[in-house]
Amino acid sequence: MLLQLRFKHSLPCILLGLLGAEQAAAVGTFKVPFKSSIVPSKLGSDDPSTSTQNPGLKVVTSVHAGDDQTFSDVLIDTGSGILWVGGQASESYTPGPYTRPLNTSFSIGYGTGGASGTAYLDRVTVGGATVSSQIIGAANFTEGFTLIEPINGILGLSPPGSNKGEVIGYNTTPTFVENLYSEGVIDNPIWGMYVAPLGEDGVAEGSGEITFGGVDESRITGEVVWLDNVPDDTKYYNCNASSLYWNNELLAPGPLYAQTDVGVLFLELPTYAFFSIYDSIPGATIDSYSALEGSLVLPNNLTLDSLPDLIIGVASLNFTFPASKYAVPRNLYSALNITDDAIHTWLGPNGIGSFAFGQKFLENAYTVYDCTYAILEKLTFSLTRLLSTNSSVESRKLGFANLA
Ligand SMILES: *[C@@H]1O[C@H](CO)[C@@H](O)[C@H](O)[C@H]1NC(C)=O
Ligand SMILES: *[C@@H]1O[C@H](CO)[C@@H](O)[C@H](O)[C@H]1NC(C)=O
Ligand SMILES: *[C@@H]1O[C@H](CO)[C@@H](O)[C@H](O)[C@H]1NC(C)=O
Ligand SMILES: *[C@@H]1O[C@H](CO)[C@@H](O)[C@H](O)[C@H]1NC(C)=O
Ligand SMILES: *[C@@H]1O[C@H](CO)[C@@H](O)[C@H](O)[C@H]1NC(C)=O
Ligand SMILES: *[C@@H]1O[C@H](CO)[C@@H](O)[C@H](O)[C@H]1NC(C)=O
Ligand SMILES: *[C@@H]1O[C@H](CO)[C@@H](O)[C@H](O)[C@H]1NC(C)=O
Repeated sequence: MLLQLRFKHSLPCILLGLLGAEQAAAVGTFKVPFKSSIVPSKLGSDDPSTSTQNPGLKVVTSVHAGDDQTFSDVLIDTGSGILWVGGQASESYTPGPYTRPLNTSFSIGYGTGGASGTAYLDRVTVGGATVSSQIIGAANFTEGFTLIEPINGILGLSPPGSNKGEVIGYNTTPTFVENLYSEGVIDNPIWGMYVAPLGEDGVAEGSGEITFGGVDESRITGEVVWLDNVPDDTKYYNCNASSLYWNNELLAPGPLYAQTDVGVLFLELPTYAFFSIYDSIPGATIDSYSALEGSLVLPNNLTLDSLPDLIIGVASLNFTFPASKYAVPRNLYSALNITDDAIHTWLGPNGIGSFAFGQKFLENAYTVYDCTYAILEKLTFSLTRLLSTNSSVESRKLGFANLA
């Protein structure tokens, strides 16, 4: 059973009804497996998938395009919005039977790295979901991906409208999810994401799963709660979280800005709350040498059972992280170059009053990404403005649910 999108307002409903009129009968939803694994740190500072201090995550899926080619290590990125493949000699994109020239190029930067090359229109399949007319970049130049190689592309899942200026000659271009919807492949312009827990070797034990077009209800318990986007200049889906508790004490009241980022490993906490936790435990230190540099380290005279829960409130939901979830499993120590026997954690500082919900948060929550308003905003910009809807506020919505 899949959830239907519930609209808060009747106007978008009506508009969507109009948009939907041209669509063929939509099949509904498509599941796409993906795989997460930890990539080494240090060298990673030039790498778009890693932040400067932390080890990154490599989150990949398979994309079929070009001359019957399967690009099997395409990064999933929630912070960018175009699709490109190729870039490594052995894996160049070759135009195929469905390829049409666009006579233009693309260029995208990620931190200090980037990719560029020729842009085409092509039939593109991800999992079972096929878009017949997708702009795809055939990279002939990439930089900054050394550490996570092999990769052969990036599938950007950030909201429609967030890829301005990346395909030369276009303002913004339709994202893969936007095309799935406009071509009638999915009924609802939303997608859900399940992130599989990392195993003790740093590789996810099972597959993560994106559900294009809906929510996989078998993965959740209770309702999805929806939060409005906080307008900012990032390409990420975000929201205001409502609280952070440690040892049942409210360390940080909301609103606490939070971004979901499937490429971040740590559960990154508001900086002052992170240091309150640090201060509350005698003997706590900050990791200064291992692959988890910058994270909280607790003394080995404590046991996991004696450590408090961390609780993050998001609207009406509480996501609870007992020590067993925020402590790094011992079997991972050598892979992460941890040589002491203290209790290392996945907790790191993010910024003043803000969270980054990376892998270690997402393993404990089901998240849902709603593009409805972003698509409406693009298609009906003047109309929504006429009707005084502040569409920039409504343009992205992020849903959360407890895992089943
Ligand atoms: C651990 O250290 C080795 C040697 O310095 C390095 O090659 C490897 O990438 C490091 N692993 C991680 C996860 O940072
Ligand atoms: C690209 O150029 C070719 C040859 O000039 C032309 O036939 C085609 O229509 C152009 N495609 C687009 C999308 O402009
Ligand atoms: C890469 O592709 C772009 C866009 O088509 C083109 O302008 C450039 O010359 C190509 N560079 C190389 C090294 O092939
Ligand atoms: C998020 O919180 C900020 C205050 O920190 C507030 O200005 C903003 O309106 C809130 N936005 C949403 C969508 O909740
Ligand atoms: C644990 O050890 C640290 C020093 O490493 C010390 O500061 C702290 O008081 C000890 N805690 C307990 C509960 O014994
Ligand atoms: C969330 O957890 C805190 C701390 O235990 C509790 O005080 C609060 O009532 C909980 N909120 C919800 C909505 O369950
Ligand atoms: C819409 O909301 C944003 C963020 O709250 C604000 O900056 C902007 O001025 C608003 N626009 C209108 C037309 O009300």
